[in-house]
Amino acid sequence: MVNLTADHWPLKMDRFIDTAVEQFAYNHTEPETDLYARLREETYRVMDRPQMQVGLLEGRFLKMLVRLTCARNILEIGMFTGYSSLMMAEALPANGRLITCEIDPEAEAIARKYFAESPSGKKITIHMGPALETIKTLSGLYDLVFIDADKPNYCNYYQACFPLVKPGGLIVGDNVLWSGKVVDPKDDNTRAIIAFNDLVQSDPRVDNVCLTVRDGIMLAWKRPAAL
Ligand SMILES: C[S@@+](CC[C@H](N)C(=O)[O-])C[C@H]1O[C@@H](n2cnc3c(N)ncnc32)[C@H](O)[C@@H]1O
Repeated sequence: MVNLTADHWPLKMDRFIDTAVEQFAYNHTEPETDLYARLREETYRVMDRPQMQVGLLEGRFLKMLVRLTCARNILEIGMFTGYSSLMMAEALPANGRLITCEIDPEAEAIARKYFAESPSGKKITIHMGPALETIKTLSGLYDLVFIDADKPNYCNYYQACFPLVKPGGLIVGDNVLWSGKVVDPKDDNTRAIIAFNDLVQSDPRVDNVCLTVRDGIMLAWKRPAAL
């Protein structure tokens, strides 16, 4: 079982949800299997900013979104060591596909190791290189897009992905509350996150909700008439 104090506390982001309350939520969420526990442990041991990993609660939430939307094609922007990719791929049908974008080869090496261990890993295709360049090469429609890469490009990712989202599809943006800093912006990353939230909020083509799960998650549902 994930123990937030022992497992995450030393390197955690500035949590704004009470740790005991969050631990309760973890304890009442589909537990982490051995593979994810090892992936999390290795990420925290060797990577510089391990807290970028979505973790169990958000990972299971993403998996649930894939189940609820019956997604078959997913685009992920920001794979890191692959925790969120695998969580979402787990809920895809056997012929489902997840394309994920990453630029860091060290993160890629870890992700590939764990993808190879999981039956769901076969559903994942990694595209190395700047995500905006990768997106230009993609065709077809995606049921779900998960945006979780560099914050200054969040608005660009949203605009670039929008035509690739099927009508009735979902765009999910991570870290949209940025440890609560969105209410008192003092740096460029925070301002970029606010701009993304404002962009989605003012977009008449979507229904949206900004959730206070973990570091904040924006859900934007593309209305069927939107192009
Ligand atoms: C917050 S982490 C993703 C965490 C991941 N979703 C998980 O749960 O483990 C963001 C990742 O985006 C990658 N990244 C940053 N800029 C990028 C770019 N321009 N194109 C593709 N990936 C990028 C970083 O190397 C980093 O691994």
